[in-house]
Amino acid sequence: MKKRVLSGARPTGSLHLGNYFGAIKNWVELQDKYECFYMVADWHALMGEYANAEKITTWTHEMVADWIACGLDPNKSTIFVQSAVREHAELHLVLSCITPLGWLERSPTYKEQIKTLEHKDITNYAFLGYPVLQAADILLYKGDYVPVGEDQDSHLELSREIVRRFHHLFKCNIFPEPQSLHTSTPKVLGTDGQKKMSKSLDNYLACSEDQKVLQKKVLSMFTDPLRPRKEDKGHPENCNVFTFHNLFGNQGVEKIRKECKEAVLGCSDCKKELLGFIENFVAPIREHRESLLKTGEIRDIINEGNKKAIAVASSVMKEVKSAVFGKFAAK
Ligand code: TRP
Ligand code: SF4
Repeated sequence: MKKRVLSGARPTGSLHLGNYFGAIKNWVELQDKYECFYMVADWHALMGEYANAEKITTWTHEMVADWIACGLDPNKSTIFVQSAVREHAELHLVLSCITPLGWLERSPTYKEQIKTLEHKDITNYAFLGYPVLQAADILLYKGDYVPVGEDQDSHLELSREIVRRFHHLFKCNIFPEPQSLHTSTPKVLGTDGQKKMSKSLDNYLACSEDQKVLQKKVLSMFTDPLRPRKEDKGHPENCNVFTFHNLFGNQGVEKIRKECKEAVLGCSDCKKELLGFIENFVAPIREHRESLLKTGEIRDIINEGNKKAIAVASSVMKEVKSAVFGKFAAK
């Protein structure tokens, strides 16, 4: 039997290259080795975006279309939407009962989010329980591994603590203790060459970027700040354009490195070459995504995935209810 992988992401609309190289590329690779469940965490999105709730469905469709265009395969993996599987809310409630407040208040991610999302009012009741819902997401599928960034480690640790407490209190052994699955992913900087690529900083390149927009964005990418003129020798290792050449597997990187250092290659030509690589990558994704959304195919794919997820989640939830209330519990 293959081990199970579960991961999820909050719907944010279009994916960008940072999301792809940082997570989705890895999700695609895991599909052959594990039984994978990939979830749109729309309840989690609602905790912060309740004021924009009407947009969450569109963002969900766009994100799943990008996932598939980037290589997630609905025939290999179960791709589904959290809110369509009611057991997530149900198990969340059970786990809420056995999670001490102190465990949540000391969570470093919680403390940090409160600080960084100052402009948003997230001091709501649900937000404190964010990692409890995340634990429910994982446990409902008896996930063994959870591919996430290191920033989510404390959530995984909390999931394991919840599992142990559940087993201890209800004298059972239902769930594996989920482990995070880290793979070395590059940290992808934005077009500003300074900060991590992110939507909110508007320094991103979408996986489905329009050709004209892509051109404009790539040709205005920040380069080596110590090379204001072509005559100056460049430092490719400090240039995000160079990092991108590597990321896209340009076989000519050594030539670029040399010619940049010798002030032979100009930044504008270097970026034009990069643009070609990115456009080759983006074009098929853009097309596939568009057809998935236009034909309504994406809705069918999500519905199918939801059905598969419901089958697993409802059977695990039955086990949970018998563990909690005894085997004659209401079904
Ligand atoms: N917290 C994750 C994020 O912000 C999303 C998420 C929700 C998740 N439920 C999950 C990730 C379960 C892994 C497993 O990206
Ligand atoms: Fe960067 Fe390329 Fe310019 Fe060198 S030539 S500084 S690698 S953009």
